[in-house]
Amino acid sequence: MREAGIELMKNTKSVRDIDIKDKRVLIRVDFNVPMDEDFDISDDTRIREALPTINYCIDNHAKNIVLVSHLGRPKGRSAEFSLKHVLKRVERLLGRDIAFAETIENVENLQQQNEGSVILLENIRFYEGEEKNDEELSTKLASLCDIYVNDAFGTSHRAHSSTCGIAKYAKERVAGLLLKKEIDSFAKAMANPLKPVLLIVGGSKVSSKLALLHNILNVVDKIIIGGAMSNTFLKARGFDMQKSLVEDDLVGDARKILDKAKEGKVKIYLPVDVVSTDDIKEHRHIKITPAQDIPEGFMAVDMGPATSKLFSEVVRDSQTIIWNGPLGIYEIQAFSRGTFNLAHAVSDTYAFSLIGGGDTADAIDKAGERDNMSFISTGGGASLELLEGKILPAFEVLERK
Ligand code: 3PG
Repeated sequence: MREAGIELMKNTKSVRDIDIKDKRVLIRVDFNVPMDEDFDISDDTRIREALPTINYCIDNHAKNIVLVSHLGRPKGRSAEFSLKHVLKRVERLLGRDIAFAETIENVENLQQQNEGSVILLENIRFYEGEEKNDEELSTKLASLCDIYVNDAFGTSHRAHSSTCGIAKYAKERVAGLLLKKEIDSFAKAMANPLKPVLLIVGGSKVSSKLALLHNILNVVDKIIIGGAMSNTFLKARGFDMQKSLVEDDLVGDARKILDKAKEGKVKIYLPVDVVSTDDIKEHRHIKITPAQDIPEGFMAVDMGPATSKLFSEVVRDSQTIIWNGPLGIYEIQAFSRGTFNLAHAVSDTYAFSLIGGGDTADAIDKAGERDNMSFISTGGGASLELLEGKILPAFEVLERK
């Protein structure tokens, strides 16, 4: 079922499979990029990753190109969430002027005036119908193009008008080059991987990774569990986690996953020692102890040196590595060592390494290892749903080869 799902998505037609000369092309991109309070973009990876498809359409003489994206989660129109904040960066990276359209009607006018133009539509979530996958909005968007291209992998788990509804009414509907690259990478790691396959999973909540863990047990040979979520698993093993973050209501689920892994002969690795503190903010007192001996009043915030060594050895023996979630509070230098050491270990292997999730990508970036990973996904929620074995709605509506 899982492999069939990925195969189905892999067989999606792309811009390369159709003729786009003299056609009006609408590309759904994901320009939902992080910005600071002055609207300075702190990471433009998603814009950079959208360039190959836009350039492909320009080079292949599309009549005009309309770019559609969302930014944040606005409630109605607001300057704060305007895509004007990304316009300059897109123009600079693309190396050409882009017309900005406040509304869909503006897009129509601009399309008539300037042949060969690239037009960026204002935040599509300013339209109430977008998140409702509204039929009227979907038809309106479809009327702007002869070819609908979805290249917004980061939003491909959302069934919205610009990611799903539009496809029903567009004359042709295909994937962009980023969407293809993403799905090919996940297929390489999950559908037909080189073995042994290792999953590294971290982050703070077991609850957000439960579905992933259940599905992935059929795919991988080994799992490293770190970050705050490992506290819940350590508690399931009977350890007193003191003041560490533990999801008490999920200790039973954690136990079930440990049992299921044992039955399926999937080896699970948990921290054997931890770095703990009595105060995350001040962290004047830091202790390194075995995971079962956390001092009273202390909480685990990173893996210890023995765990780093053990996990690095597990990494070294893997051919495919899927990594989702940081393994400690890497944003605080004192608690970043475990995550950074593992990033260095992954970068030292010849394994195919697939990184999913914004925090994980950020941690790997801060470890200085971004360029040494095989593939870093541009999707957070979307990559999580792929790891959970789901078929993403935005893929389902596109044409197959
Ligand atoms: C993301 O950043 O995960 C995507 O752009 C989707 O955004 P959303 O979670 O607001 O739908």
